[in-house]
Amino acid sequence: MDTWLAIASKRDERRYADRPIPEEVERRILDAGRLSGNSQNNQTWEFVVVSDRAALAETVYYAPNVQTCALAVAIVSERPFDAGRAAQNMMLAAWNDGVVSCPNGVADADAAERIVGAKPTIVISFGYPQTPHDPESRSPEEWSQRANRKPLDEVVRRV
Ligand SMILES: Cc1cc2nc3c(=O)[nH]c(=O)nc-3n(C[C@H](O)[C@H](O)[C@H](O)COP(=O)(O)O)c2cc1C
Repeated sequence: MDTWLAIASKRDERRYADRPIPEEVERRILDAGRLSGNSQNNQTWEFVVVSDRAALAETVYYAPNVQTCALAVAIVSERPFDAGRAAQNMMLAAWNDGVVSCPNGVADADAAERIVGAKPTIVISFGYPQTPHDPESRSPEEWSQRANRKPLDEVVRRV
């Protein structure tokens, strides 16, 4: 998929099909995190694939995201900017393979730490969409127009 189309059409999704993510797709998603730029290239992060998603779901703000996803990745990093870069790279790589995703804030950090082995910055839920949709059905400009975002003029300031 074209990068601009991927960025413009990617929405966070919270309903997932009951369908596993193939190993090679999972590997690409995780590799997209590994490849992310990061502060001083220290790579002080871990991408933790959590198999007990039911337990992890109880620690995030909106449990169904994690209960129903096919892959849950907890990003552990003391550098929030690096974690964000890795998260978005993983979600865009997933979208390129037709896999949708949503970040999940952690509501109970201590309980999450018991499962993950460290306090996650964020948990990303991944899965195939319940209702398949084709990013190519619209141009990037159309996706951009339809996005529920403030207009560019409101968020860009030149000094
Ligand atoms: C740091 C962060 C934490 C988030 N936490 C949650 C969450 O706990 N539960 C949830 O359903 N969505 C969560 N989201 C997703 C946001 O709600 C979503 O990015 C926003 O509504 C825009 O969605 P859209 O791209 O589909 O328009 C989080 C997003 C970020 C960046």
